[in-house]
Amino acid sequence: MNPILFTRGVPPQESIPIEKLSICAREVISEHGVDVLQYAPSPGYLPLREYLSERKELTAERVLLGQGSLQILDMLIHCLLQPGDVVAVEQPTYDRVLTLMRRADLCIFPIDLRPDGLDLDQLETALVGGLKLRLMYVIADFQNPSGALMPLNQRQRLVSLSQQYRFQIVEDAPYRTLRYNGEDLPSIFDLSPATVIQLSSFSKLISPGLRVGYAVLPENLHSILSKYAEDTYINPSYLNQAIVLRFIQKGWFEGHITFLKDLYSHRLQMMLNALQSHLDRICAWTKPEGGFFVGLWLGNGRTLAEVWERSEAAGIRLTDGRGFFERGGESFIRLPFCALDEQDIHQGIQRLAALLDS
Ligand SMILES: Cc1ncc(COP(=O)(O)O)c(C=O)c1O
Repeated sequence: MNPILFTRGVPPQESIPIEKLSICAREVISEHGVDVLQYAPSPGYLPLREYLSERKELTAERVLLGQGSLQILDMLIHCLLQPGDVVAVEQPTYDRVLTLMRRADLCIFPIDLRPDGLDLDQLETALVGGLKLRLMYVIADFQNPSGALMPLNQRQRLVSLSQQYRFQIVEDAPYRTLRYNGEDLPSIFDLSPATVIQLSSFSKLISPGLRVGYAVLPENLHSILSKYAEDTYINPSYLNQAIVLRFIQKGWFEGHITFLKDLYSHRLQMMLNALQSHLDRICAWTKPEGGFFVGLWLGNGRTLAEVWERSEAAGIRLTDGRGFFERGGESFIRLPFCALDEQDIHQGIQRLAALLDS
């Protein structure tokens, strides 16, 4: 029995607009030639920076393009923080970010995120008690790994805590555009555009292999990061950034987002239906309105370890939930739905239910 993979939350093959990207690549090379093939200034391809900044009504001086957004986060950690500094994260959070923070010897303060929301009281109590927080990393829209959406009142409270206790908020928003139902909330960046750093990327919207991500930075940080980027990799790929911009300028981006939303919203609904049919009252899970993931918590004190060794034989491959936690995570499972078809989603959840029952 081939295992159904609940492991990687990457865009599926059928989501990547290969033909259109190859047209864009040919056009930008023949029209811009050396401008996209030579060494260049480290903040990235100016026309794409201008496009992004105009949409936010900012100057291009605040936009830094990088080779994916994760790399920019790594640079931010290097430029803003020292070993031993305290950083807060939602718990669970994106596993690679925990890795970057541990590699930089930061002290991680996890804040519990459950299907019913983030426990900001935990953070406030610690701040009142003297916690010297330097930075909080947060994924407010359709979080990886839980799919959670931070409500508006929590976004506002987080901004006011950051102002009162003077810590930097880094909002990572790669899934924000992929909303399948409901209304957009203001991003945390929208609530305080002069202070919040926002990261985002075209990885989930066009193609991850192009490695085109960006940060919107407060003005004083832009030059610091640009210098660090120049000293580290000289410049990110102008060719790939020009391909992304050409894709947008040809009017293909909006249609592509509609196509992705149709594809993924159907898969999300299949996942939620399957969970309801097979795991109701046994587990708790988020009910995302967008993104790539549903977060599942096993009930009754059960842990993934109890069934881990039998999961492959039961026909599913799971990710160890502890990777998304600073502490704990034994009962958490991330369920990516974007790259699975209807049949795999249904069968996969059926197999998971049978495994938990066995
Ligand atoms: C929350 C989050 N941030 C960043 C990334 C990485 O994005 P990029 O490809 O732009 O580096 C991912 C990828 O899965 C993600 O889920």
